[in-house]
Amino acid sequence: MWAEVPLRLIVSGAAGFIGSHLCDRLLEEGHTVMGLDNLLTGSLANLAHLEGNPHFRFVRHDVTQPFELDGRVDGVLHLASPASPKDYLRHPLETLEAGSTGTRRMLELTRQSKARFLLASTSECYGDPLVHPQPETYWGHVNPVGPRSCYDEAKRFAEALTMAYHGTHGLPVNIARIFNTYGPRMKLEDGRVVPAFLDQALRGEPLTVFGDGSQTRSFCYVSDMVEGLYRLLLSDERYPVNLGNPSEMTILEFAERIRRLTGTSSPIEFQPLPEDDPKQRRPDISKARRLLGWEPRVPLEDGLRLTIDYFRGPAAG
Ligand SMILES: NC(=O)c1ccc[n+]([C@@H]2O[C@H](COP(=O)([O-])OP(=O)(O)OC[C@H]3O[C@@H](n4cnc5c(N)ncnc54)[C@H](O)[C@@H]3O)[C@@H](O)[C@H]2O)c1
Repeated sequence: MWAEVPLRLIVSGAAGFIGSHLCDRLLEEGHTVMGLDNLLTGSLANLAHLEGNPHFRFVRHDVTQPFELDGRVDGVLHLASPASPKDYLRHPLETLEAGSTGTRRMLELTRQSKARFLLASTSECYGDPLVHPQPETYWGHVNPVGPRSCYDEAKRFAEALTMAYHGTHGLPVNIARIFNTYGPRMKLEDGRVVPAFLDQALRGEPLTVFGDGSQTRSFCYVSDMVEGLYRLLLSDERYPVNLGNPSEMTILEFAERIRRLTGTSSPIEFQPLPEDDPKQRRPDISKARRLLGWEPRVPLEDGLRLTIDYFRGPAAG
C-alpha cells in the first residue's frame, strides 16, 4: 500500500502552526519531509527542534513562485496560506495569491511528479452558515466582497482548482476542510480566540468577548487534527472531508473556561461583533468518522492545559 513505504513528502506552510506539527508526525511515521515556507506568518522557531534531522529539509520559498524540485516526491501537502483573521486581513493580496497561484504551482509540481496532493482548506468555505452543523454537502453562505472574502474565496477557489486537476489530469487529491484548531505554536497575537483569550488571561487583562458571546465555536486540538490529515492523506476520498471537533460551546462559556484553567481574575469585556463574524460553527464529522475512522480524542481541558503550559513556557517568547 502507498503508505507503507517511507515517502518523500513536501509540506508547504511547514513553519506554521499546523504545518510544523504535521512535519513532526510525518517524520515520526518514517517519511522524509521537505518543508517550504516564506515565513510570512510562520516562524523558524516552530521547526528549530528538527535542525540536524537527516530526514527533514527546510527550504525558504514562496509557493506563488516557480519551484525547481531535485529528486522524487510522492506527495504534496499544501498548507501555505495566512490563516488567522489578523494575518489575512493584514495580507489580503498575499492570501488570494497563496490560494490561487500558490495552489496552482503546488498542483503543477504534484502533476509533474506523478504524486498526490492534499489541500488544507477551511470551514470558512461555509461562510456564515445557514445549515447547522455543516456537512460537506452544504455549499456555504459567503460574502464575496466582505473583509474575510480574501480568505474564504481563496480557499473556495483552491478547492475548485484541486477538483479541476483531479478531473482533468486524474490527480489523486484530498481536501481537508479544517475547523478551528488550537495548540502549542499558535501565535499569541494572531487574533484567533484561543491565543487571544490565553494572552489576555496570562497578562491579567480583560478577556475580550465580541457581541454578547452567544456565538458558538468548536475547538480541535492540533494532534487530533494532524491525525485526521494523515488518515485523509492515506485515503482514496477525493471530495472535501470536514475535520474538526463537533463539541460546541459559546464564546462566553469558553472565556469562563479559560478564566478557570488559568486561574486569572481577569474580567470579561464585551466589544462590538466584527463584520461577517460567523454566529455558529460546528463540523458534521460523520464523513470523517465513516471513511477515516477518525474523531477527536483530546478533551478540551487537556488540550488547553498543554497549550497554557506552552504559552507559559520559554518557547512562547
Ligand atoms: N489553524 C486553524 O484553525 C485552521 C483552520 C482552518 C484552516 N486552516 C488552514 O491550515 C493551514 C495552516 O494554518 P495555520 O493555522 O498553521 O496557519 P499559520 O499562519 O501558522 O501557517 C501558515 C504558514 O504558511 C506560510 N505561508 C503563507 N503564505 C505563503 C506562501 N506564499 N509561500 C510559502 N509559505 C507561505 C506562513 O508563513 C505560515 O508558516 C492554512 O492553509 C489554513 O488556511 C487552519
